[in-house]
Amino acid sequence: MKDRGDGAHVSVRVPGDKSITHRALILAALARGTSVLRGLLPAADSWSTIGALRALGLAAPDLPADGAPVAVVGHGFDAPTAPSEPIDCGNSGTTARLLLGLASGYVFSTTLTGDASLRRRPMRRVTEPLTAMGARFEELGEADRLPIRVTGGSLRPFDYENLTGSAQVKSALLLAGLTSGVEVRVSERVASRDHTERMLRAMGADVAIERGEDGAYAVRLEPPAFLSPLECTIPGDFSSAAFFIALGLLSPRGTVRIRGVGVNPGRIGFLDALRRMGAWIELQDTCDVCEEPVADIVVGAAELEATRVEAAQIPGMVDEIPILAVLAARAQGETTVTGAAELRVKETDRLRALVENLRALGVEAEELPDGLVVQGTDRPLTGRVRTYGDHRIAMAFGVLGALPGNEIEIDEPDVAGISFPGFWDSLREAATALTR
Ligand code: S3P
Repeated sequence: MKDRGDGAHVSVRVPGDKSITHRALILAALARGTSVLRGLLPAADSWSTIGALRALGLAAPDLPADGAPVAVVGHGFDAPTAPSEPIDCGNSGTTARLLLGLASGYVFSTTLTGDASLRRRPMRRVTEPLTAMGARFEELGEADRLPIRVTGGSLRPFDYENLTGSAQVKSALLLAGLTSGVEVRVSERVASRDHTERMLRAMGADVAIERGEDGAYAVRLEPPAFLSPLECTIPGDFSSAAFFIALGLLSPRGTVRIRGVGVNPGRIGFLDALRRMGAWIELQDTCDVCEEPVADIVVGAAELEATRVEAAQIPGMVDEIPILAVLAARAQGETTVTGAAELRVKETDRLRALVENLRALGVEAEELPDGLVVQGTDRPLTGRVRTYGDHRIAMAFGVLGALPGNEIEIDEPDVAGISFPGFWDSLREAATALTR
């Protein structure tokens, strides 16, 4: 039996939230006046958004490594200018999709592209509804893929049902409404993360939310003449915290406290799944920062049991499925995830990558068309993990590798820098303290 009272009590901090960082950079650049942003995520994906904004003639700050405050002087919705070259969104799907929405509000043409992984990811999920609003898109390579040239201008008001469950789609449409000055309503069967809505509201926009009894959600944005500047401290990224939550659960004893993490209700479905698996997790010192709930997450070592995760739970834990699959490998019984076909179009096909790597380590696992099945085991895990350039695959298996008894080599550890600079040092430090 594990004992959380015994052993070390480790405290960690994770870098700023990636989703909120993208939105803060974009909305501060479009605001009228000087925004002050603290705790921006200093990682590769954030630089992709900064590069894109600068290419559009907008203000975007350099990223201090320590999250120190930066000022962004925005000049309103008329500030963007035609980019002289294609904009490279790197590995960042959020940059590409949000920028397709933003650029739809302008008469000039903007070409967006990305790295090999991003050029394999679907874009029609945003270009189709944006076309219905009146923007024009030319696919310069393969169908449904970057590079894409967008030519926008005055768009039509729009009411859209977002069947993908993607917050990037919802946010792209809200940004198009904002930059072209038309009303946009987006409805969802299950609410996706609502960081854009919250931040727009914090900047004075008229954002109305409707909630149905069955979890249905809709947002309506009445476009403002201008956005007020933003004063914001970006919370720690829940998706980065998830790796330390897993470390705490899998450790032989002790507790982990992750300080100042964003606990937006649309992001923490992972905690519900873990509680079903028998985890003890508390949110402490909860407060609100910039319309976002923030808390310390405290978790103790636990014996886990298998669980089932289904479609309605996926939007709330879409980025945590890799680490959940890793935890399932250490839980008693068979864990099943379904309704998660979206994972096939992330930075890599995560369902395939997870199953292949779990098997390489000797764990019984099986791919489903829209999910996976994992049999828990307590055997020592040994082998080599292929990340396929995916930061979350690298970090999820990194947690397993940091635990006593396992010998795991990660082929490209540096890909963690897409969302979590310093991950390996933080992991080593926490794991050493917990297993001492
Ligand atoms: C994000 C939304 C999610 C998530 C991604 C970030 C965002 O993607 O997986 O890491 O910032 O809006 P989808 O919108 O494709 O679900």
